Amino acid sequence: YQGRNTRVWMFEGNLLSGDAESLEALDDSYLGPVIRVRKGQKTRIRFQNQLPEESIVHWHGMHVPEEDDGHPKDVIRNGETYVYEFEIMNRAGTYWFHPHPHGRTGPQVYNGLAGLFIVTDEEEEKLNLPGGEFDLPVVIQDRTIDNRNQLVYLTRGRMERMNGFLGNRIFINGKPDRKLSLKSGCKYRLRILNGSNSRFYKLAWEDGTPLVIIGKDGSLLDSPKSKAYVMLGVAERVDVWLDLTNRSEGSQMTLKSLSFSPGMMGMMGGMRGRDRNNLPLGSTYEILNINIDKTGNNNFELPQRLAEFNKIDPAIAVNRDNPRTFRFFMRRMQWTINGRTWEMTGVTEEETVKLNTTEIWEIANTGSWGMENDRKWMNGRWRRRGRGEQDRNRENMMGGGMQMPHPFHIHHLQFNILERDISGMDSRIWNSVKDGFIDEGWQDTVLLMPGMKVKLIMRFEDFKGLFLYHCHNLEHEDMGMMRNFKIE
Ligand code: C2O
Ligand code: CU
Ligand code: CU
Repeated sequence: YQGRNTRVWMFEGNLLSGDAESLEALDDSYLGPVIRVRKGQKTRIRFQNQLPEESIVHWHGMHVPEEDDGHPKDVIRNGETYVYEFEIMNRAGTYWFHPHPHGRTGPQVYNGLAGLFIVTDEEEEKLNLPGGEFDLPVVIQDRTIDNRNQLVYLTRGRMERMNGFLGNRIFINGKPDRKLSLKSGCKYRLRILNGSNSRFYKLAWEDGTPLVIIGKDGSLLDSPKSKAYVMLGVAERVDVWLDLTNRSEGSQMTLKSLSFSPGMMGMMGGMRGRDRNNLPLGSTYEILNINIDKTGNNNFELPQRLAEFNKIDPAIAVNRDNPRTFRFFMRRMQWTINGRTWEMTGVTEEETVKLNTTEIWEIANTGSWGMENDRKWMNGRWRRRGRGEQDRNRENMMGGGMQMPHPFHIHHLQFNILERDISGMDSRIWNSVKDGFIDEGWQDTVLLMPGMKVKLIMRFEDFKGLFLYHCHNLEHEDMGMMRNFKIE
């Protein structure tokens, strides 16, 4: 790889037939090919596993049947092939693919396995958005490279795993030099994916130019939004409009991550002394340098209306008065969802929904499981636990007060964000990120800062089956912060 002898794992793609798809390799990169498809077409993808371990590929954000979703139970071994056949039912948007075996997603993605899966549709085609060389992937990842040019993954033990892997340098599109060379006079669409394992970003142009957002996850927005900065959680995508009409040849632009308070109480604080990471989460650093080193011209115009977007009406949700609640917290030094961790095919009543219904889910990053901690429900009322029991309980809850940001992701569908409740948040954290959220459009991943709760509305349609929801911090996911939900 890159003449440095860095060992990576790669998706090597070949187009077998069909003219509706296209597949381009990202030059000189470990990342997988950029696959482009169109809504309504049927696609067949053969995944041949040549890794020394089990794997399966997941199409992140895509609305596909259970057998095409890349569930960890469908892993294949070295030498085996898995055939996916599905119709593209999603709206135009920037999706991606990555492996999803249980317990090994973090290392497999880290070793290089990820690629973009781009969907277009009729609505988008009418907009005449930048295409070809003006439609550019920007995949942001962080890696640590040792002095023999090899990738270094988790090495610092349990605490590092509980926080999630943080590399000490930024890679763009699988390369450490982080440069793009663009043309003065032209307009671009940058498809930014946070493909990192656990790092997330507060993206902004260094010179204060607003970021113009035209898409988020699985959709174009209804109209472009100007933002001073954007928070981009793991696995989230934003499509950015970049106008270089008034930028002269020879000038530069820099995309940075600005400082913010990640609010990792206790954990990172304790790490700091030993942690030699020179890119702490929430510090300021450069992401991407753009050299405007040629002149060109193109006539793409930023449309004032992008996509027809109607949020799902909360009145039609079957549980509108009583949303399902999923709380992210730590228990017995283990990240959990409602106190549970991964089971390969296990699914509870709380996680079972009906086909053709709409529901509201509340996802809460609470840091503890609440009242049950010191009280218990007995004979029809709350009772205080005895001293000994309280102490034992606290031990079980080890780490129960710890909080961390968690990016929530659900498979199989795109949701709308109804509200973000910040009443349980530390105001220092909130103030450092509050202008960076895009709560419009159709999304599949949402970043929950410590103490934050979000209400999502989603529809279960077309397919019954067993699908996943999880924290997309890949180390948390691998530790079991992932569960099944079932559509029946
Ligand atoms: Cu991007 Cu379950 O995954
Ligand atoms: Cu997914
Ligand atoms: Cu998490």
